[in-house]
Amino acid sequence: MEEINSYIEENKERFLEELFGLIRIPSVSSKSEHKPDMRKATEYIKKSLTDAGADKAGVFPTDGHPVVFAEKIIDPALPVVMVYGHYDVQPAEPLDLWKSPPFEPEIRDGKIWGRGADDDKGQLFMHVKAFEYLMSKGTLPCNVKFMIEGEEEIGSPNLGRFCEANAEMLKCDVILVSDTSMIGRDTPSITTGLRGLSYMEVEVTGPNRDLHSGLYGGAVANPVNILARMIASLTDEKNRITIPGFYDDVIEVSPQEREEMAKAPFDIEKYKKEIDVDELDGESGYSTMERTGIRPSLDVNGIWGGYTGEGAKTILPSKAFAKISMRLVPNQYSKKIDELFIKHFESIAPAGVKVSARVLHGGEGYVSPVDHPAYRAASKAYEDTFGKKPVPFRSGGSIPIISLFENVLGVKSILMGFGLESDAIHSPNENFPLWNFYKGIETIPLFYKYYAQEMM
Ligand code: BES
Ligand code: MN
Ligand code: MN
Repeated sequence: MEEINSYIEENKERFLEELFGLIRIPSVSSKSEHKPDMRKATEYIKKSLTDAGADKAGVFPTDGHPVVFAEKIIDPALPVVMVYGHYDVQPAEPLDLWKSPPFEPEIRDGKIWGRGADDDKGQLFMHVKAFEYLMSKGTLPCNVKFMIEGEEEIGSPNLGRFCEANAEMLKCDVILVSDTSMIGRDTPSITTGLRGLSYMEVEVTGPNRDLHSGLYGGAVANPVNILARMIASLTDEKNRITIPGFYDDVIEVSPQEREEMAKAPFDIEKYKKEIDVDELDGESGYSTMERTGIRPSLDVNGIWGGYTGEGAKTILPSKAFAKISMRLVPNQYSKKIDELFIKHFESIAPAGVKVSARVLHGGEGYVSPVDHPAYRAASKAYEDTFGKKPVPFRSGGSIPIISLFENVLGVKSILMGFGLESDAIHSPNENFPLWNFYKGIETIPLFYKYYAQEMM
């Protein structure tokens, strides 16, 4: 598609300036101090969509952060594609590790640097610009809706209800999402699976106050020691999770399917080098791709308690805490896993401490079929712009709302992510290569074209 490339060439500086405007708004959903920024981001996106040619762009309140919705219905007889994305971002801390400030985007080494550059402001903006292009040429081949939410990074607690309440407005044939990554710049891929999530916070309480660790040490249970021991017992020497019943609903992927999956090119040396580890670690009997794609996992995301300030303080802490997440595979249900976890965690608490566990958030995994018109359309689109057929692969990440879309709206999603593993999403120095940004804008219009053809 020649025309799109000249459109990108003529407008690329403006695209970046506009995206930068969005990245400059620190829309961190988890912190209440950013509430006004959430509002600002929605207004910004509403304007971008309106300028691009959308009708009825609006900001819809929820019990949490607002949702932006817009649409362009060119012919009610044609299929409707709904683009989903999120304008909220993860906190930028630790700030001192950023080479340039997280909310002052800049271009270095051919990449856009800033919080949200990839996840998901950069990726959702590709859709706005692809839509703008189609509108400017009058070549939009189907109807389009946009739903951009502001609570993805905190588990989309209000989006399910929003979908139920607005099912008619959100009616569509397929949901198009760019919020995942591809295997590599030279290996276009379509994400066909996401993991579910069960996220807990646990608390271990010992004595009623921090004690002198000389006067009491050795005689009173130390909550931090106990918590460490309890966490260590949650996985065994084969890196399998020890919670009784945890694997009951896990579907074992067939040897044929595993063989098929193993064909996806994966450079293990590059993977290790990129994160600077000498050896990888995970459940025995499975490859790295399988460990993240088709197997569940359990990780401590943070652990604290006692004295962590400068220098030494001799205490036996009163309390210890941890945030523990479990990534789940299709057919495992987060609510059931929450219950199994809580029951087990309380049961392994030794005498001398009190233990409690509560759910922070969670959601279900997703598998998307490859024999779907949207998959075929996406595949053709990538083939045109990358010169290669994309490979299907299951990602280890989670977008819990995707399974909810299927359950509430009855609609499948197609995950056309243009990010790279090296984009450092959620980490300091998040970035998005310009090449990927423009490649996304080039590929998306072709998806619409082939999807409309598939649905004729
Ligand atoms: N965009 C990511 C998910 C993702 C990234 C999936 C790359 C596949 C490849 C999303 O914004 C995210 O971070 N999701 C959270 C889940 C949420 C409930 C906090 C996650 O996976 O931790
Ligand atoms: Mn995301
Ligand atoms: Mn994210």
